[in-house]
Amino acid sequence: MSFVSLSSSLVSRGYFSSPRIVNTLAYHSSTPKRLEYSHDSTSRERNRAVTSYYNQSAIDNAAAKPSVRLTPSTIMYSGKGSESTHILKSAQYLQKELPVRIAHRIVGFRSLPFIVGCNPTILSVHEMYIKAFHLLNDFPTIQDMKDEEDYSRLLENLLDDFVHVVTQLAEGFKGSRKHMQNDDLIRQFLDRTLTSRLGIRMLAMHHLALSQDKPSHVGIINVSMRLKDVIEKWADFVTRLAQDKYGKAPRIKLSGHINATFPYIQLPLDYILPELLKNAVRATIESHSELSESLLPPIQITIANNDVDFIVRISDRGGGVRHNLMSKIMLYNFSTADLSDELRLESDLFGSLLETANRTTSGPMHGYGFGLPTSRAYAEYLGGNLQIQSLQGIGTDGAETFSTDVLVFISSGIISRKIV
Ligand code: ADP
Ligand code: COI
Repeated sequence: MSFVSLSSSLVSRGYFSSPRIVNTLAYHSSTPKRLEYSHDSTSRERNRAVTSYYNQSAIDNAAAKPSVRLTPSTIMYSGKGSESTHILKSAQYLQKELPVRIAHRIVGFRSLPFIVGCNPTILSVHEMYIKAFHLLNDFPTIQDMKDEEDYSRLLENLLDDFVHVVTQLAEGFKGSRKHMQNDDLIRQFLDRTLTSRLGIRMLAMHHLALSQDKPSHVGIINVSMRLKDVIEKWADFVTRLAQDKYGKAPRIKLSGHINATFPYIQLPLDYILPELLKNAVRATIESHSELSESLLPPIQITIANNDVDFIVRISDRGGGVRHNLMSKIMLYNFSTADLSDELRLESDLFGSLLETANRTTSGPMHGYGFGLPTSRAYAEYLGGNLQIQSLQGIGTDGAETFSTDVLVFISSGIISRKIV
């Protein structure tokens, strides 16, 4: 969505009542009307527009407060109670907590280098957070279940409005990073923004799920999640995508502790697994373009689970990662899909299919080079890690047998760590 159409739709929906923010939109619109302004009035407008991003005392006050992070076990055990008091309490907690977390995100946008913060797509996400802050902060104190229902509708709408934020950020940074030399700064901003966003979404979705009666679930926590089922779901999904796109897909084999079950929140895995599987499947197919489906080397997934953590290893024989690219693949916005227009086209198609299917999560962005760094940030947020080992030369026999092992280990102690 372009900046102008997104912002004007927000105005028409009454989200931006402040004339200052509407002025901001006028400033960024490149319609011929803009040329009619005199120099003085243009600078005045511009000053007002810029001021509207900083003179927000309610946001400053909220941003000065620390956020209260919870452990999943805290939210799990407060997730059951007599009648609906636990739902009311949950809404009251969110009413205090969400504005603080969103204010922190707004401070993050403010601290971006000016040239990056001015990118229209990044600016529009910044404005969406300002809008969300005011809607949540101005919501009347929640006192009874009627208020809770209204608050839940607001949360539902916001979750939906924000569904494409990761894609928007990926697009915005792709456009503006050429102006920036400092990769660390971008990484810190995106790691923080994306993981904090994951936490905000988990809290909001958990609250909404508390009113649903889903077997083996307390809110969004699956009290006996079977990792094998989650992996199989995404393996099937990526297989179908590849068959649709390339007409073939490698077999995906699963071994190890396939019967392991433990309490867990599936949401982050619903982002990480399709991203990693998509990479492995794509590498396998593209490095063996001459082979028919039955001859493609299979992808091997191993699950290991112990008292402390669980590990998912995804091994492919997809040509590996070239030595000179190894230090780059974890950078936001690095993608070999950029190297040719043909690949770019393919990746867009692949990505948009995934995006549609994954709308409820942060949405994968194949071709934007966000899959690996975002998955690593999520894994670290959950107390784990993501490592890539590219075994260049393994079994070299003239054929392309280089392989990539992607190891994701996540602490299943998630349930007692303050992560949400
Ligand atoms: P994207 O998939 O959008 O390119 P990612 O962050 O998921 O972004 O991956 C970045 C790059 O890392 C890919 O473009 C590809 O060059 C490389 N890569 C990732 N996984 C693999 C893999 N399993 N085998 C070979 N190369 C890989
Ligand atoms: C997000 O998805 O980025 C959010 O922060 C959602 C929140 C405004 C409910």
